[in-house]
Amino acid sequence: MDELRPATSAALGRVVSVARPGYQARLIATIRRGLGDTVQKWLPAALFYDDTGSELFEAITRQPEYYPTRTEAALLTAHAAEVLALARPHRIVEFGSGSSAKTRLLFDAYPDKLGPRHYMPIDISESMLRHTADALITAYPGMSVQGLAGDYDEALAVLPRAADSLVLFLGSSLGNFRPDEQATFFTRLTNRMGSGSHLLLGIDRSDHGGKPVERIRRAYDDAAGVTAAFNLNMLRRLNREFGANFDLAAWAHRAVYNAAARQIEMHLVSRGPQTVTVTALSTDFRFRRDDSIRTEISRKFSLARMTDWLRTFGFAAVRVWTDPAGLYGLLLLRRE
Ligand code: AVI
Repeated sequence: MDELRPATSAALGRVVSVARPGYQARLIATIRRGLGDTVQKWLPAALFYDDTGSELFEAITRQPEYYPTRTEAALLTAHAAEVLALARPHRIVEFGSGSSAKTRLLFDAYPDKLGPRHYMPIDISESMLRHTADALITAYPGMSVQGLAGDYDEALAVLPRAADSLVLFLGSSLGNFRPDEQATFFTRLTNRMGSGSHLLLGIDRSDHGGKPVERIRRAYDDAAGVTAAFNLNMLRRLNREFGANFDLAAWAHRAVYNAAARQIEMHLVSRGPQTVTVTALSTDFRFRRDDSIRTEISRKFSLARMTDWLRTFGFAAVRVWTDPAGLYGLLLLRRE
């Protein structure tokens, strides 16, 4: 695998931090913009993924209501051998790898069960990456693992360009980007990917008549309250890292499906009038009862529109798989 020079000196084992200097300052500026928005206050979803948030997300994926992970895993199990036969990758790069649990379905589908020669997981959580890299090296001794800890922009800047690569963007993580961010991501990705390399994209579908909207919404409002805890954990992080004084008991989790925009919106709703100080911003924010902070959008997609749109970035659909209920789509695309 190409040698990477860490942007900071924080190379830890097989995980390299690609975080650019000033990441925290940029995050503070983003939080200021979001909490200062006079139309709809918002916070960046990247704030979810501290160590606790990453663990809570893994717990969300095991909730009965959260169908995307389970459905995608079933699709991968059924079609992994076909993906490998079509893409023939020696190197797998994965955006938002988390625990890499689903990726193992692909590794195990290699004829010798040894996985690809190289695996490059990319995740914002450095501790999750380190843990995952250690586990993978033990499970697949012949595979080199080089994790990149940072956001997608930072990782895109150092991606190796190789024709024998398969880039994974699973879990419908694309849905957490605004449309303009999606376009920027694919523009940058297409520029970094060698001609003949492949992209495997997992997307949650909006376009199947048989999928009740309430089923989508419940995936973001599970009965056990794990998604609520995940949402509220963002405030705990603001308290710890940015000197805020959010009282978690004064906020409620809410998930709504915006049918026009085809997206779930997660909010934190103020249970009453309150003032919150964020020391890192030297600012007080006033909230009335029912004022909300939007913490995430999770867009849902039409398979046909997605394949058409990706063609404009130079990605040709090789194969598209979906489950019998039409909940979810898995797209294998070739970089022309
Ligand atoms: C990571 N991402 C694709 C998840 C989603 O479904 O949008 C994040 C999530 N938020 C709440 N539940 C899951």
